[in-house]
Amino acid sequence: MRSPLSKKIIEVQPSGIRKFFDVAAEMEDVISLGVGEPDFDTPWRIREEGIFSLEKGRTFYTSNAGLQELRNEICNYMERKIHVRYDPKKETMVTVGGSEAIDVALRCMLDPGDEVLIPQPSYVSYLPCTIMADGVPVIVELKAENEFKLTVKDMEAVVTDKTKILVLPFPNNPTGSIMTREDLEPVAKFVEEHDLYVISDEIYSELSYKGEHVSIASLPGMKERSIVINGFSKGFAMTGWRLGYCCGPHGVLEQMIKLHQFAIMCAPTTSQYAAVEGLRSCEADVEEMRKAYNQRRRFLMHEFSRMGLECFEPFGAFYVFPSIQEFGMTSEQFAERLLMEEKVAVVPGTAFGECGEGFLRISYAYSLEDLKKALARLGHFVQRLRNER
Ligand SMILES: Cc1ncc(COP(=O)(O)O)c(C=O)c1O
Repeated sequence: MRSPLSKKIIEVQPSGIRKFFDVAAEMEDVISLGVGEPDFDTPWRIREEGIFSLEKGRTFYTSNAGLQELRNEICNYMERKIHVRYDPKKETMVTVGGSEAIDVALRCMLDPGDEVLIPQPSYVSYLPCTIMADGVPVIVELKAENEFKLTVKDMEAVVTDKTKILVLPFPNNPTGSIMTREDLEPVAKFVEEHDLYVISDEIYSELSYKGEHVSIASLPGMKERSIVINGFSKGFAMTGWRLGYCCGPHGVLEQMIKLHQFAIMCAPTTSQYAAVEGLRSCEADVEEMRKAYNQRRRFLMHEFSRMGLECFEPFGAFYVFPSIQEFGMTSEQFAERLLMEEKVAVVPGTAFGECGEGFLRISYAYSLEDLKKALARLGHFVQRLRNER
């Protein structure tokens, strides 16, 4: 019997994030700092609006691109936050999380053999989605010595005339690195020179701890070349509502909506009504969560410095990415021993690309109480490893 599967899907490796959590789930008294999901409940006004929409019987499909009311609010929000004006009828669509937007954008923009620059360490879906879209992933290594920022020098080394797309994953999961306007300017120039398009994944844009988040789309000449992806999961603590969106040039969005129509039909209706309320009236709730994350981030940095664990200071998302190179173990070995010996679950840096070797991703989307307990355990572990030497 011939294989029912495509060669492409066989080539795709499963995500390295889940592996540890299946083991951790079977153990008692484990503290997990592994999941990239807010620990806050969705702000009440958003939940209430979702409930209200169900009471009202709003249980039908919306238009494929999403409720017009929501698209209007998304465009107002983008103008407020990144200072780029999008046409709510032509330049935006509502998706099933940022995840769907990444997938659909790549599938609509790539022809077989087109190359995609994927900076790593980064979120796990860019590479498999590129492969499934018949593109060729080309890894650009983000380096600790550059605070895991993307540099033109690193891209120059791998760009070819087949390169079509640059994935821009900032604020970054897993490193927490951000790109300032000064960092983005040379990248924008490079994009123009090589006639590229950018898929800018700005899902953590609300979680920036050093000034305002800057989108590459706001730089001169970049709106036409950028598909900006965002969503409600992280900033609004709405992971389970499965709601995201993207904004970009009409010619691209039109085709993305076509594919979304055939594959998905529309994003969840209840979530869309709820999200309108989120964008209209929950800025203070989002700010409160951001402040709490920032407090935790500072606590972690302080603890790392106390235990002498090397970690560059990240200013975005809700992750820190300490180096464990001094212990002479792989990230996976370290994470495994930390789980077995101290019952703390973290993610090996290699889950986000080979160049994550020697690092761990620690999420601080957990209560300060849990973080304190987990860091005390990590401190013991680090001490023990140093004593073993
Ligand atoms: C960088 C990044 N992009 C996109 C996503 C997908 O988020 P969602 O589909 O929930 O919007 C995640 C989730 O962890 C992420 O970390």
